[in-house]
Amino acid sequence: MAAAEDTAVRGQATSNVSALRFDDIRLLRTNYLRGPNVWTYRPVLEVWLDLGRLEDFPSNTIEGFTERLTGLLPALIEHHCGVGERGGFIQRLTEGTWAGHVMEHVVIELLNLAGMPTGFGQTRSTSQHGVYRMVFRARDEQVARAALAEGHRLLMAAINNDPFTATDVQRAVAAVKAKVEDCYLGPSTAAIVGAATDRGIPHMRLNSGNLVQLGYGASQQRIWTAETDYTSAIAESIASDKELTKSLLASCGVPVPEGQVVESAEEAWDAADSIGLPVAVKPSDANHGRGVSLELTTREEVMDAFAVAEPEGSDVMVERFVRGYEHRLLVVGGQVVAAARGEVITVTGDGQSTVAALIDKQLNSDPRRGAEEEFPLDLIDLPTDAKLQLELLRQKLDGNSVPEAGRVVTIQRNGNLGVDCTDQVHPEVAHAAVLAARIVGLDIAGIDMVAQDIGRPLAAQGGAIVEVNAGPGLLMHLKPAVGSPRPVGRAICDHLFPDAEGDGAVGRIPVIGVAGSRGTSVLARLVAWLVGLGGHHTGLACRDGLFLERRRVDARDSAHWEAAHRLLVNRAVQAVVIENGAETILRDGLAYDRCEVGIVTDLDGAESLAEFDIRESDQMVKVLRTQVDVVLAEGTAVLNAADPRVAGLAPLCDGAVILYAVDPRAEALQAHQAAGGKAVLVRQDRVVLANGTSESFLPGLGRLTVWRASHAGVELDGLLAAIAAGWALGIPLNLIGAGVEAFEADLHAALASLQLSQTQPLNEQLA
Ligand SMILES: Nc1ncnc2c1ncn2[C@@H]1O[C@H](COP(=O)(O)OP(=O)(O)O)[C@@H](O)[C@H]1O
Ligand SMILES: [Mg+2]
Repeated sequence: MAAAEDTAVRGQATSNVSALRFDDIRLLRTNYLRGPNVWTYRPVLEVWLDLGRLEDFPSNTIEGFTERLTGLLPALIEHHCGVGERGGFIQRLTEGTWAGHVMEHVVIELLNLAGMPTGFGQTRSTSQHGVYRMVFRARDEQVARAALAEGHRLLMAAINNDPFTATDVQRAVAAVKAKVEDCYLGPSTAAIVGAATDRGIPHMRLNSGNLVQLGYGASQQRIWTAETDYTSAIAESIASDKELTKSLLASCGVPVPEGQVVESAEEAWDAADSIGLPVAVKPSDANHGRGVSLELTTREEVMDAFAVAEPEGSDVMVERFVRGYEHRLLVVGGQVVAAARGEVITVTGDGQSTVAALIDKQLNSDPRRGAEEEFPLDLIDLPTDAKLQLELLRQKLDGNSVPEAGRVVTIQRNGNLGVDCTDQVHPEVAHAAVLAARIVGLDIAGIDMVAQDIGRPLAAQGGAIVEVNAGPGLLMHLKPAVGSPRPVGRAICDHLFPDAEGDGAVGRIPVIGVAGSRGTSVLARLVAWLVGLGGHHTGLACRDGLFLERRRVDARDSAHWEAAHRLLVNRAVQAVVIENGAETILRDGLAYDRCEVGIVTDLDGAESLAEFDIRESDQMVKVLRTQVDVVLAEGTAVLNAADPRVAGLAPLCDGAVILYAVDPRAEALQAHQAAGGKAVLVRQDRVVLANGTSESFLPGLGRLTVWRASHAGVELDGLLAAIAAGWALGIPLNLIGAGVEAFEADLHAALASLQLSQTQPLNEQLA
């Protein structure tokens, strides 16, 4: 772990330190790295902390500390730490480790306890005495900050032997959990996003709720919980009107309970009379079972049910009561991908307890029940549940009645879809569900169906579809109370991105990252120019501004995370070129998870990065390697062979490598060529593309001395890097050559000529 730990003298402190008090560990700076960074591919919270006097007191020198800490967080035993086995971290504690490293594990453990497990953490010393950089994986910034604050408090209490009880730990965990609930994705959305991640599809949250972009630019698909770009707004409106939905289904021969909309309790009873008893009464446009009353058989019940339904929606419906179990079928892209059956919830009297007490004892004590979203079942709250009160009334009971021993009391007839029954669905039933989704027009639909046995055709048993839901919840299929979870997130992801598995480019557009400091803006512009000629609507974020095609939409320095993010969100953009300085990588991380082409030009600029504890150019290798680490397996790293340290990044690349150098004698370049690699170099005053040792001139581009006379702004090595990138992207070579000739290196001239308005795109002129 921390370098300081390995070198410092162990156990140097006195034996009598238990009476010492330590000042708070100071958090100097916390930095949320939102993309791939010097630590890892994923977002992390990076914390710069000053241990103060604790720097001289590793864990083993603080009396009772290890026992206190493991007493509060017993699961620390599971942290392997560097040791690589269970108990590894405890071993580090007893041998002596520093407080920054301990803080890392405390925070990670709190995140685990809060249900957002995080596998990654690291702590490193800096060049400053007692100052460490501690990082941990953090899916969400707010959650990470909450875990840090709670962990910090807990750790200081354990160090100073201040009162901190198990209840305090619970409170800390609850605080982190509350942040997860508030800030992180809901379970349905998280399941879809998780499936996308499994398929290598990037995601970006577009609001603080569940609106998420999967994929980049023009290749993206959006989801909002279980609604997608394909979910028709008309279909959604139809689904929210039960009467309209039923009439459309009925007209296509899908079985639905006959019924009608009524205006008054009187009319409700008249309707029930003509439909035939028993009936169901419900609001026409509510959800979650609100205001639904079932199996009503008397005038009084029907009229009471009307009063329960009326305030919940715009209209009240009376319909035939369908016998059987409640079912929910999830249809995705024309297929039933999961089905769940509801249970009728009952309590059994003991001759002593009231109904209210029985509910608490027999139902609310179930660990699957809870108020938060993560629980598959809700808590039952009799005083606020009018429907339940009515259900009891019909059984001639209320909350205070004491049912005799053995009497079964119905508490809830619906809303408890806990039993997975996907494998039992009869093909004809599945067909009806798929048809219903199609009639309404939904790509993803939750079909509410009542049937005695989902394994038999509906007609034979009088089963029917009672409702079609847009944006259905997925939790019942992800965490069924009985049966196995169904991969519904994956089904939705595959529906949005139907491409064959193993295709790494699903949901992606070409992303070209440029890292370095020397001439990188012009280089980025030249690459964007070439990509544009290649026929892509191209976005560019560089120090010269933010560009869409050749239009500059922002003139400010745009070599930073937000600008790049803006491009990746843009649906019009088919390719993006993004310039990344070292500072961007250190402060924010990269804006993209992976790229098609990663260019590294040089390792300059260390002198301005003291803030990040970077003092010499050798340290820059670790920073700029990030650009190479993220190259896709089917992508290419373009590296400057003039600096052997840059060329030395080649083995880190998952994809191909093209080296470039003005001087063909550059050692790294020659070695690469000899090994059959691709290179771009200069011979006889012309640009040469090398495939191993076989070389050819770039067509369409003449002598470089001539070219340079009119392109003063572009350095020769930048030119080679851009050509290499164009080659890597498969842009036709003569288009690259001609494009380089036509490029306006002078930004102002380029913008001016744009204003003169070229009506014909250049790629057409060149064709
Ligand atoms: N006509 C009916 N016959 C039998 N059960 C019904 C009927 N209508 C609704 N239900 C039951 O009540 C549940 C809730 O009704 P539903 O119309 O789906 O309302 P919500 O929009 O509140 O979910 C259904 O899932 C079903 O179990
Ligand atoms: Mg329903």
